[in-house]
Amino acid sequence: MIADKVQGPRIVVTRTMPEPAIAMLREIGDVWVSDVNRPLSAQELHDAAVGAHALVTMLHDRIDTAVLTAAGKSLRVVANVAVGHDNVVDSHALAARGVALTNTPGVLTDATADLTMGLILMATRRLGEGERLLRAGTPWSFHLGFMLGPGLQGKTLGIVGLGQIGRAVAQRARAFGMHVAYTGRSPATCANEVDVQYMPLHEMLTTADVISLHCPLTPATWHLIDANALALMKPTAFLVNTSRGPVVDESALAEALQNRTIAGAALDVFEKEPEVEPRLLDLDNAVVAPHLGSATVETRTAMALLAARNVVSVLSGDGPITPVTL
Ligand code: DGY
Repeated sequence: MIADKVQGPRIVVTRTMPEPAIAMLREIGDVWVSDVNRPLSAQELHDAAVGAHALVTMLHDRIDTAVLTAAGKSLRVVANVAVGHDNVVDSHALAARGVALTNTPGVLTDATADLTMGLILMATRRLGEGERLLRAGTPWSFHLGFMLGPGLQGKTLGIVGLGQIGRAVAQRARAFGMHVAYTGRSPATCANEVDVQYMPLHEMLTTADVISLHCPLTPATWHLIDANALALMKPTAFLVNTSRGPVVDESALAEALQNRTIAGAALDVFEKEPEVEPRLLDLDNAVVAPHLGSATVETRTAMALLAARNVVSVLSGDGPITPVTL
């Protein structure tokens, strides 16, 4: 871990970040950056937070009352370098202390939507399976029935959560010739912009060919896709998750994939990251990726810069740029 002393407010960054963002923070304060590329332990996070004016946090950092108490009265902002902020488990305590919470919406929309389409293609066209076959040196030859999967043209994509990423996925899916339906807390006014139809979840589960999850993780969406939901899906349907792992009951999903009650799944996120339900790793109809939704060079830099700009703006008294409503 590196301690870097400059005059000014104490800014704690819990994992390495692109240098331009660190440089921006160094211009205004005393920046401490963790140099380990893993989540800090609860004790390390607690120790690092002591006396902080700003915490720049990542998606696996659990920000609870203990961390806020460790930071103490100096804390003004928690800038989460992600659009999701379910790791900030005690948002009421933040509000009560007058601490701003910010996230990074917008800058990762295209990268995440692109990856979602990649995962849909990987699952439906069996790309992971095909790659594993070649790498294993398994004999193969082209024939008309070899490794077939469903095409996307004319199929229905069901989007759960029509936020910015959901809408970007809808636009891409329309370009692939898919019909797109969405479900969410209520019909969205923006649905017309992307030509998608509202559908209650129950109907979506029973009719969609691909279901893609883009909702935040909240108490209402925890295990939204459980054994009952999976049982409603068609045996030819696919599930794609680039939102948060706990939206899906991973054990029930492994069961459904094993029994082929659904055709396949592609997951970029997991219930207990970085752990992955072991059964998923053995299943040919499961595609797994290590939380790469926003992993482009440009996007990760933009996320870090937006988080840094939020810190600078709050500490200089101008308020957050992209606040999360607490
Ligand atoms: C987010 O922003 O919430 C992603 O999961 C990490 O990029």
